[in-house]
Amino acid sequence: MKRASRTASTRTTSFERWSYGAIALLVSAVFIVEACASDGATSTAVERFPHEFPDAGFVPTPAEYCPTPAESCGPLFELSQDYPSELPGDEELPDFLDLDFSAGEDAAVAYLEAVRDYAFEGNEEIDFRVEHNEQRNWYHMPWQHYGPNGREGIHGLTREAVAQPQQLANIQTADLPANVKTEGQFSTYAIGFYNAFGGYSIGQSWADPNNPQAGNVFPEGTVIFKLLFTEAGEENGVGYLANPTQWPAYVYKHDLTKWKVGTEPADAPREVRQLNLIQMDIMVRDDRTLETSGTGWVFGTFLYNGTVDSSARYRNLIPLGLQWGDDPDLTDPAENFENKFNFPLRAAWDEPNVINNLLQETIINSSSDVPHTHLGWGSRLTGPVDFYQSSCQSCHTTAQWPVESQLSPAFSPDSKEPAFGPSGSAWNRWFQNLPLGEAFDEGAETTDNVLQLQISIKNFYEAKSAQDGGVFLVDGFPNGVNTGQVDPDDLHTRDLGVPIPGGN
Ligand code: HEC
Repeated sequence: MKRASRTASTRTTSFERWSYGAIALLVSAVFIVEACASDGATSTAVERFPHEFPDAGFVPTPAEYCPTPAESCGPLFELSQDYPSELPGDEELPDFLDLDFSAGEDAAVAYLEAVRDYAFEGNEEIDFRVEHNEQRNWYHMPWQHYGPNGREGIHGLTREAVAQPQQLANIQTADLPANVKTEGQFSTYAIGFYNAFGGYSIGQSWADPNNPQAGNVFPEGTVIFKLLFTEAGEENGVGYLANPTQWPAYVYKHDLTKWKVGTEPADAPREVRQLNLIQMDIMVRDDRTLETSGTGWVFGTFLYNGTVDSSARYRNLIPLGLQWGDDPDLTDPAENFENKFNFPLRAAWDEPNVINNLLQETIINSSSDVPHTHLGWGSRLTGPVDFYQSSCQSCHTTAQWPVESQLSPAFSPDSKEPAFGPSGSAWNRWFQNLPLGEAFDEGAETTDNVLQLQISIKNFYEAKSAQDGGVFLVDGFPNGVNTGQVDPDDLHTRDLGVPIPGGN
């Protein structure tokens, strides 16, 4: 793939060490330090990149993490960042690349279960502190610590979308914690993990920690999985969150008199609370999709159902379905559904899901173990915490640098109720099958469906810009974000506290 050539900045300020105020005080790692390259810190034969990216942006104090007794204080998050500098050999390719995911529901579920086993191997017993996995190397994406959504310090979770009332279950209402009003809204926090094929690619994009690159594609065999946790629980009407699998996390306190849920700024107070595992997402770079949709990727998701086996913990993640294309020709698939988005949810959580059998590139598991959920546009695949007018691939196809298009056309300020229009309409641009390696917008370079890579580069430039006290121009876009609204004369004075359209 073509590598990016950047006119990134006219500035020469060193970005190797700097502070960004209060948050920096909480970060346990020093900023990008070029160190320990040859001191034997690497224990395997593979050469490693010597960088040290920050672990987290929001770390609890001991008094917050473990008030009493001191012994109950668990470990803190460590960024797994010894990215391999050589592509792993074919012998490391996962076995499930031989399983035909597209041959019907049973085959799809078997593929998903095999990916789940692969993701869990050596990780379940260490609560996904993957840097300690003795069977397989797993890595994290750097530069997710920055900004108000940045990584917290216990499990490395970033803040994600807010679940609206009746998004997770038809009777999802009550407030949490009990004495704090959230109006039925609950934040999601999540973390993603990359196998060695993915880690290799991250290392390539971030080979120079002061000049990250887009334009690479991830190699076949890349497996990414993401664990998603919600603030909601069974007590809020979400029945499948019975017998929860919980992680403590350092998350925002809610105060509706000041901020809507999910909009708390970086300096808002946090506290340690237990969150409930609700969903697991996977992405696999599987070359067989090049023959069909051409996109290179299989997306899949799993829903937690604690009523299946009260002691199964992570194994209560039940395959919901997979997707290897966006069925671009099926532009009016939901016409006959009574509630075409199946949102807000009206059926009880243990009712069967409504499946759109016209879809050729999504397969949904019809098992009664799968909680009732809303799915995506035309019942393409999304999970309960995801957006109901989108699909996995639809959001992910916009991953590129610089950031330009929104994740979904519905997020655009001038968005209208989506017209189930003929193929080729503006809306359907988000439901195309973009060939592997192509960027969504002209003039941008792909980050190959990997949104965390896009966010890492964006965060890097935003931090750099904040350090410089102004806006940083990357290929004509301020901080890499094409807002179309910025007067070039104003570039050094723009208030970075204002949310940037196109950001997350
Ligand atoms: C509304 C848009 C949206 C939808 C729908 C969506 N995602 Fe994502 N996804 C994101 C964003 C934004 C990120 C990066 C933020 C993060 O993970 O911290 C992300 C991250 C991920 C990651 C980590 C790797 C990466 O690309 O950053 C995986 C794996 C993933 N999503 C899988 C899925 C799957 C599977 C589905 C469908 C079940 C899905 N996503 C639906 C927006 C979306």
